Parts: sequence; structure tokens; C-alpha cells
Amino acid sequence: MRSYSVGSAKPNDIHHVLLSEEQISAKLDEMAAAIDADYEGKELLLIGVLKGAVMVMADLSRKLKHTRTSMDWMAVSSYGSGTKSSGVVRILKDLDADLTGRHVLIVEDIIDSGLTLSWLISNLKSRGVESLEVAAMLRKPEAAKVEVDVKYIGFDIPNEFVVGYGLDYAEQYRTLPYVGTLAPHVYEN
Ligand code: PRP
Repeated sequence: MRSYSVGSAKPNDIHHVLLSEEQISAKLDEMAAAIDADYEGKELLLIGVLKGAVMVMADLSRKLKHTRTSMDWMAVSSYGSGTKSSGVVRILKDLDADLTGRHVLIVEDIIDSGLTLSWLISNLKSRGVESLEVAAMLRKPEAAKVEVDVKYIGFDIPNEFVVGYGLDYAEQYRTLPYVGTLAPHVYEN
């Protein structure tokens, strides 16, 4: 495995590695095989949710071998005071694509409370999709506030503060190739 020092991450910032680069890659192989089996011969629109999903989108999409794909992006944010996961979501960047009659797969890095995804699913379903499913790399079952139907899931993880592989703390650590837990001294300062 690579050293803990990637980009601006200091070696002590990561308490421990939860999922290695190799574990993530192997899981994405499995997810891609399942998606390929389900969508073979169809055209699939992958929708990534900025910014956390960029890594999983880049890696998962390149592992699809039998599915014709195109890609689009949305950026959303919890509405109002900045309190995360209020369930009320504001669109910061909408899709370019028209979803009418399309097979759509939302690609997410993490499902925490599930509120973002729950809102997104109902929003996208109202746009006339032919089908809509979700692929998410990580899920925190203990943090769930709503049940979200996720067809392709990577790992269920404990309710800890995790960074890396797209996930940030104060916009840092997204480029770590693994998922690690953040050392408390980083966010307690
Ligand atoms: C993260 C993640 C999901 C959302 C999950 O995004 O990418 O979109 O939070 O949380 P929830 O299940 O509690 O709704 P974030 O708002 O941190 O933005 P980012 O992707 O730009 O880091």
C-alpha cells in the first residue's frame, strides 16, 4: 500500500485504513460485473453526484465492459443553514441530459443519513426515466434516517468519520487512494 502521505494529508491525520486501494478495486470489479450483467445491450446514463463521487465514477465506469454508457453530473447541497442532511436539497448544478426514457444509474460515494439520495431519487424519477437504480461505494447503516433502495453497494461501514477516495474533511483528503478514519485531533482543533 502507498504511504499515508498523499497530497496535503499528514501521516498522523489518518487513524487507520478502513478499506485499502486493493479492496476498493476488487469490490468495484464485482459491482461492475453485476451492472454489466443487468444492462448488457442497453445504454446506461451514469449520474455522478459531485464532488465525492468523482473517484468511484471514474473507476467504476472504466470497469464496465459490456454496457454502453454516457456520463452526467449533479451538484446538490443541503438547503438553508448549512446543517448537513436536512433532507431539503438545493440543486447547485443540474444535469445537462434529458432523462426521458433513459436507463439511469446514480453513482454515489457514500450514503450517510440517506436523505440526499432519497431526495435525488424522487427528483430524477419525476423526469420520465425508463429505469433508475443506485450504485454507492459506502453506506453507514447506523446513520440511516431513511431507507434507500440501493441495487449496487460496495461496503457497509461503521458510523465513523471517514475520508479518502473522494470523501473530504474541509475539502481535504479526497485524493487518498484508500478510505481511512480521520484522527480526532484533525477535527477537534
Ligand atoms: C456527501 C455524499 C453524499 C451525501 C450523503 O456529500 O457525497 O452526497 O453527503 O449524505 P446523506 O446520506 O446524509 O444525505 P457532501 O454533501 O459531503 O458533498 P461532497 O460530495 O461535495 O463532499
